[in-house]
Amino acid sequence: MNQILAGKSIVITGAARGIGEAIAQGLAAAGAAITIGDLDKKSAEAAADRICSTGGKAIGVSVNVTDRSAVVAMIKASCDAHGSLHGIVNNAGIAQTKIFTEITEQDWRRIMEVNSLGVLICMQEAAKVFIAQKNGGKILNVASIAGKQGFEPLAHYSASKFSVVAFTQAGAKAFGQHRINVNAICPGIVATKMWDDIGRGFREAGLAEKDEDAFNQYAEGILLGRSSTPEDLAGVSRFLMSSESDYMTGQALVVDGGIIFS
Ligand SMILES: NC(=O)c1ccc[n+]([C@@H]2O[C@H](COP(=O)([O-])OP(=O)(O)OC[C@H]3O[C@@H](n4cnc5c(N)ncnc54)[C@H](O)[C@@H]3O)[C@@H](O)[C@H]2O)c1
Repeated sequence: MNQILAGKSIVITGAARGIGEAIAQGLAAAGAAITIGDLDKKSAEAAADRICSTGGKAIGVSVNVTDRSAVVAMIKASCDAHGSLHGIVNNAGIAQTKIFTEITEQDWRRIMEVNSLGVLICMQEAAKVFIAQKNGGKILNVASIAGKQGFEPLAHYSASKFSVVAFTQAGAKAFGQHRINVNAICPGIVATKMWDDIGRGFREAGLAEKDEDAFNQYAEGILLGRSSTPEDLAGVSRFLMSSESDYMTGQALVVDGGIIFS
């Protein structure tokens, strides 16, 4: 593969599995040195080992993105291992299915804490490093089609993803003067473990008979005729982390095989 990220060092949160891991593998294949941050150190290290076993360069560290000191430590570990930081992919996230009238304050806080506050903290701490390095930087946030359109019964999840798009636009305005590009991707219906939670929630809410029904129903109308794999997000992430996209900022690109058009 074209080594468009050779010499670049990139941190990816929530990358021990799923979309984050596929993005990490895609960036590593293009030459980037990767730092995988995830809740569980062993899982993060195992994902890093999978990259190293195919000739890539990666380390795994534990991080809870809602904990600022842990985020600072993750970025420091990356700089210690790989030198200057060039980019961060803010991918860590959680989902919950609840019908609109039953979302509790606790549900709201839990989802917003990880999906919204976690992204804010990671953007802030990465931007501080980029500004100190005086060499620009790339921030890529993983939002969702639920950040472009409110999905019921995922209202609080949708709100958290709208906030990720808002941080992307506001961050582009805050950091453009420092040559820091801030963009987002909005995946569609991606086959990952996250759908275990979403699908179970649909069944428990009486909206589906089986856990897999919700995924299959959402996937039915996709123009390209199939649901997404995590690997479908790798190419666009490579582009947004490379110099090929240096004149793009503040954008939230929908990568959903054709579900919504905005
Ligand atoms: N799967 C989909 O259909 C889909 C669609 C659109 C957007 N997304 C978004 O893509 C991102 C990745 O989702 P996925 O489907 O790969 O999910 P996943 O559940 O398979 O993976 C999420 C990863 O994030 C980690 N994580 C969770 N909370 C964390 C925290 N506080 N700190 C650090 N790591 C944490 C988990 O340990 C896990 O490894 C999420 O932000 C999700 O909202 C997913």
